[in-house]
Amino acid sequence: MIHVKGLTKTFTARGPKGTRTVDAVRGVDLEVEAGQIYGVLGPNGAGKTTTIRMLATLIRPDAGTATIAGHDLLGEPGEIRRALGYVSQAGGVEEQSSARAQVTFAARLYGVADPSGAADRVLKRFDLAEIADRPGRTLSGGQRRRVAIALGLVHSPPLLLLDEPTTGLDPQNRANLWDRVRELREQGTSVLLSTHYLEEADALCDRLAIVDHGVVVAEGTPAELKREVSGDVATLRLDGPERAPHDRTTLDDVFLARTGRSLRDTGADA
Ligand SMILES: Nc1ncnc2c1ncn2[C@@H]1O[C@H](COP(=O)(O)OP(=O)(O)OP(=O)(O)O)[C@@H](O)[C@H]1O
Ligand SMILES: [Mg+2]
Repeated sequence: MIHVKGLTKTFTARGPKGTRTVDAVRGVDLEVEAGQIYGVLGPNGAGKTTTIRMLATLIRPDAGTATIAGHDLLGEPGEIRRALGYVSQAGGVEEQSSARAQVTFAARLYGVADPSGAADRVLKRFDLAEIADRPGRTLSGGQRRRVAIALGLVHSPPLLLLDEPTTGLDPQNRANLWDRVRELREQGTSVLLSTHYLEEADALCDRLAIVDHGVVVAEGTPAELKREVSGDVATLRLDGPERAPHDRTTLDDVFLARTGRSLRDTGADA
């Protein structure tokens, strides 16, 4: 579904001390198979949003190549946009108009055959039918997040890009959203999501890439990643001869082994 090779982005930021460059993404490779929930796990500033925005054709990479659903990222941006739904980290929902109006409008923009029918279906699927006619400003955080996802799904793309879909949600809303994402996978939609929650990456993702300072520092299934470092971890913590190494290894141990820092210390996880 996604093949990414050497994706790179440097920003030039003008500040009070003159011009500064930020190497946000420094040669990222990703392979995402169809039907997977794929996670990009990393602390603040790791380059998650920049990577996702490049895949969504919203910013142009400085270097690297990518194909999504068989289309070339740089050469076929229109096909790429039809092949994916993108839900930004801020999760834009308009304050003044209703969820139904917003989702129907998105369906029209995408050229969906029956825009109001498609909007009805996706709103129902995300349990939004009852609040669909209220203005956006009256919706709760969890409802807004679901509307934002409905906006990204109304054209039934094979791939959904979710940038930190559960940040700021309470545990109940987070668990609810995990179930929705799993349902998407069951129905054949591939999902690439970013997160800084270790627990979310572990529980939800089939595979993940751990990113730090714009590079992938580890990649695999959660179990593989933990198994790879369980030897190191067992020697790091000489605190129990009969400890079963990878049962107790966490993704934070993986991050620590690869970066020398704890993801929890970055303030990323609760
Ligand atoms: N438009 C921009 N101009 C300048 N610097 C930028 C721009 N966008 C991102 N950056 C910088 O690039 C780096 C990566 O940012 P990015 O938003 O991709 O990280 P992130 O992993 O999504 O972080 P977070 O978890 O906080 O959302 C950061 O240092 C950020 O300040
Ligand atoms: Mg981000």
